[in-house]
Amino acid sequence: TAGGVRTRSAYHFQPAKNWQNDPNGPMYHNGLYHFFYQYNPDGVTWGNGNLSWGHSVSVDLVNWFALDAALQPSRSFDANGCWSGSATILPDGSPVMLYTGIDARGDQVQNVAFPKNASDPLLVEWVKPEYNPVIPVPADIKRDDFRDPSTAWLGADGLWRIAVAARVHDVGGATLIYRSKDFLRWERNADPLYLAHAAGMVECPDLFPVSEPGVEVGLPASGAGARHVLKMSVMDTVQDYYVVGRYDDTADTFVPEDDDDCRSWRRLDYGHVYASKSFFDPSKNRRVLWGWANESDSVSDDLVRGWSGVQTVPRKIWLDEDGKQLRQWPVEEIETLRSKRVNLLIPEVNAGGVNEIIGVMGTQADVEVVFEVPALEHADVLEPNWLLDPQSLCGEKGASVPGSVGPFGLLVMASGDMQEHTAVFFRVFRQNDKYKVLMCTDLSRSSTRDGVYKPPYGAFVDMDIEAHGGIISLRTLVSSSSPARRSLNLLALFHSITLVISTDRLTTRLWRASAAGAGRASRRGCTRSTPRTATATCTCSTTGL
Ligand code: FRU
Repeated sequence: TAGGVRTRSAYHFQPAKNWQNDPNGPMYHNGLYHFFYQYNPDGVTWGNGNLSWGHSVSVDLVNWFALDAALQPSRSFDANGCWSGSATILPDGSPVMLYTGIDARGDQVQNVAFPKNASDPLLVEWVKPEYNPVIPVPADIKRDDFRDPSTAWLGADGLWRIAVAARVHDVGGATLIYRSKDFLRWERNADPLYLAHAAGMVECPDLFPVSEPGVEVGLPASGAGARHVLKMSVMDTVQDYYVVGRYDDTADTFVPEDDDDCRSWRRLDYGHVYASKSFFDPSKNRRVLWGWANESDSVSDDLVRGWSGVQTVPRKIWLDEDGKQLRQWPVEEIETLRSKRVNLLIPEVNAGGVNEIIGVMGTQADVEVVFEVPALEHADVLEPNWLLDPQSLCGEKGASVPGSVGPFGLLVMASGDMQEHTAVFFRVFRQNDKYKVLMCTDLSRSSTRDGVYKPPYGAFVDMDIEAHGGIISLRTLVSSSSPARRSLNLLALFHSITLVISTDRLTTRLWRASAAGAGRASRRGCTRSTPRTATATCTCSTTGL
């Protein structure tokens, strides 16, 4: 604790102390989940120069056992840091790691590492062969623009492929493809897998196959023209985006199915999430995604609490029935953390009304709410330019600005006097004869302290609220966090909307601040009976690229 306040998150993966950033090399191996992450063993800041790979194992993605760092700077090819990379499980079942080393000259190079003893279930020790680096920085790429090798996949020609992030000057962010038969000698394909014009550096590429829309598996499939998702972390905006497209494993090119404009890329998440990475989990036939949430404030605050950064709750991801969007849902194992269950039905939430949900005080809650919104026709008319920048709209029309339909939602982490709280809320607008649902998280009141990161987050969710009888369902994981604020660290929009919040004090209230008409809301606590009744998939409106 610090200042008598709980300081650690209960839902999110954290090492015992210090700084962490990107998820690295997640994998399932011989009955264990392995998780590695960018880690500064010496302090609470990023610590350029000594980044290592922290390492933990788990049988259930929920409870973690910490091991010693798997990779630390030690050789000329990684003397200044072991940066992000990925795991590949070879056909004989043994894993191999590819990671970026910052070498003695400061160049970004790609290295390989193997377990010292592949039959050690914990894979504690990793060996970096002498022949590293396996890929030096190419002549046409700047020495600090070349990093983050992906998981390798096998092409029909029997060669392994990896994607590596690079920036091509005056062109944009490139995802390069390298081929190899032995993980030792790698050859670059002349054409990049994908070139993002005007996007700057795109980090941590992740390319994975998606099976038929709506089918909840992420089986590694390939073949010419197979549908894939390319995830890119855009450094300029510090946001993760993805594109659905066709990957040709002969030419090693990726062609987006929608228009090829980075302003129309879909956001993976509408909160504070970056550098995400997925892996295929054969034990449950699913693809699981990890992401980093930079849960930090000022360095002095971070020093007091002794840590910075959390990993988001692992999510299962699959392609929506529309074939365009990823669906996401917290891994089912998270539900094992549910204990006391509270059910509540609130027949009507009046304008300005706040209903405290008694019985969920504590540091952690898994909340499922179903809102029934009557009288949609009263909704305010949407101005078309609002569609371009929903996040600003969430800020301008904060949780306390009344509207015709909404805001309504949850107030979490509320202090007794309500001076501090975080609002998770919706507004419904009318555009011609359609309705648009805006989902926001308002951090502006999450702390009364100054100098704390308190932005609004938000987006229009791609749901037809009318077709769903005016019903919106929301799942919110509330967890303890920093003493500096009562704030959220992740806003995630799922098919049914899911929101993951970090908090240091928990009181959950249902509320509606609407000028006209009364709304109805019912709350189902801690059940998973209806999460899919209101379908809400995220829509993208990208700004600032
Ligand atoms: C993304 C990133 C990666 C890099 C790592 C260094 O957050 O910048 O590109 O490998 O962090 O910690």
